[in-house]
Amino acid sequence: MRQFTLTNTEQTSDDKKKQVLLQKAGEIPMHIAIIMDGNGRWAKSKGSIRIHGHKVGVDSVKDITESCAQLGVKYLTLYAFSTENWGRPSKEIKGLMRLLVSSLRKEARNLNKNNIKLDTIGQMERFPKQCQHELQEAMELTSDNDRLELCLALSYSGRWDITEAVKRIARHVKEGRLDPELINDQMIGDHLSTAEIPDPDLIIRTSGEYRISNFLLWQLAYSELYITKTYWPDFRRDELYEAIQSYQKRDRRFGKIPAQKDEKATSSV
Ligand code: IPE
Ligand code: IPE
Ligand code: MG
Repeated sequence: MRQFTLTNTEQTSDDKKKQVLLQKAGEIPMHIAIIMDGNGRWAKSKGSIRIHGHKVGVDSVKDITESCAQLGVKYLTLYAFSTENWGRPSKEIKGLMRLLVSSLRKEARNLNKNNIKLDTIGQMERFPKQCQHELQEAMELTSDNDRLELCLALSYSGRWDITEAVKRIARHVKEGRLDPELINDQMIGDHLSTAEIPDPDLIIRTSGEYRISNFLLWQLAYSELYITKTYWPDFRRDELYEAIQSYQKRDRRFGKIPAQKDEKATSSV
C-alpha cells in the first residue's frame, strides 16, 4: 500500500535505517517543542525578501512533522507566532497570515491522511477571521487522529499563558470554590493552555540565539535544550536526528542524584 507522506516523497531506505538506529539507541522524546527562528536571516543570506524565508520554513515544518510522526514522537509544539511578533511591520504580519491560510488549505487533508491531529495554543481571537476559520476546519477534520499531535503556538507567549491561568484560578477563589492554600504547581499546570499535554522533553531553537523568547515558560522547567546555528528553513530531519541523539545522551536528574533518577519529577509544593 502506498504510504502517505506530508512531503509527498517516499521515505528512502537510508532514512528509515537512520530512524530505526535512533529508536534503538535510546528514548525518543515524547514531546518536542521548537522555536523556529531565522527565516528572515535565511532569506537575507539568499538575497531574498523575508517572506521567502517564511515560505521555505513551511517545507521544514512538513519535513520535521513527518519525521516526528515516523519516529513515534507523540507531541510536536511549534512556536509559529509570538505575542511580541504583532509588533512587526504590518506587511510581514499580513504575509505570514496569508501563508498560514494557504498552508492549512493545502495540508489539512494530508495531515488527516497521516493520522496527525492539529491543535493550537495562543490568542486565536486576535487572528483574522479567515485564519481562525481555516484553523477550526483543520482541527475539526483531524480531531480523532492519534499518531502525533501537532500544536501550533500562534499569538502565544508564556507570560500570557501564565496570566490567563492565574485569572482563571483567581475566579475560583473569588467565587468561594477554592481555598488559596490548595493552589499548587499541578493546579497551575492544569489551568495553562497546555493542560492536556505533557511538558516538553526537548526544546530546540534554531538560528543560534540563546534565549527562550517568551515560549513555554512554565512548562520548560525540566526540558532539555538544544540550540543550533542552522536557520529554520535549513533545519531538516537529519539535524532533528542530531538533536535527538544529543537528548539521548543527557542525564535527566530532575533535581535528584543519579541513583534516584528513575523516580521522575514529583510535585514539591
Ligand atoms: C522566525 O523567523 C519566524 C517568526 C518569528 C514568525 P524570523 O522571522 O524571526 O527570522 P529572523 O530571526 O529575523 O532571521
Ligand atoms: C521567536 O522568534 C518567536 C517565534 C519563533 C515565533 P523571534 O524572532 O520573535 O524572537 P527574538 O525577537 O529573536 O527573541
Ligand atoms: Mg527571529
